[in-house]
Amino acid sequence: MRPTITVDNRVYTLLGYVEDFIPGKGRHYQIDTFDLAVFKVGDKFYAIDNICPHQGGSLSLGEVDDDFVTCPVHEQTFHLTDGKNITVEENDTLTYPVIERDGKIFACLT
Ligand code: FES
Repeated sequence: MRPTITVDNRVYTLLGYVEDFIPGKGRHYQIDTFDLAVFKVGDKFYAIDNICPHQGGSLSLGEVDDDFVTCPVHEQTFHLTDGKNITVEENDTLTYPVIERDGKIFACLT
């Protein structure tokens, strides 16, 4: 069971530590039923569903450019802030709030 913290009545689950992340490179986390791709872009962190809604590519292996990640399989691109697919309309995915506390990275999975 991963540690959690509660912020503004929302429960956040520990993912890892700031130093685990390489800017522009995704990290993959499987937590309960959640399959996440997590990215550090500048000083911000983003969590998005790892499984591409097109045909199941792994977005954690995608290329990041600014706040966008491109699926390595067929190159559809998703906005990391809201999961919008900017390549194909109505093929959006989910994102999850991420916070940093004392060098630890947490995501809200509820
Ligand atoms: S599986 Fe991701 S774009 Fe096709």
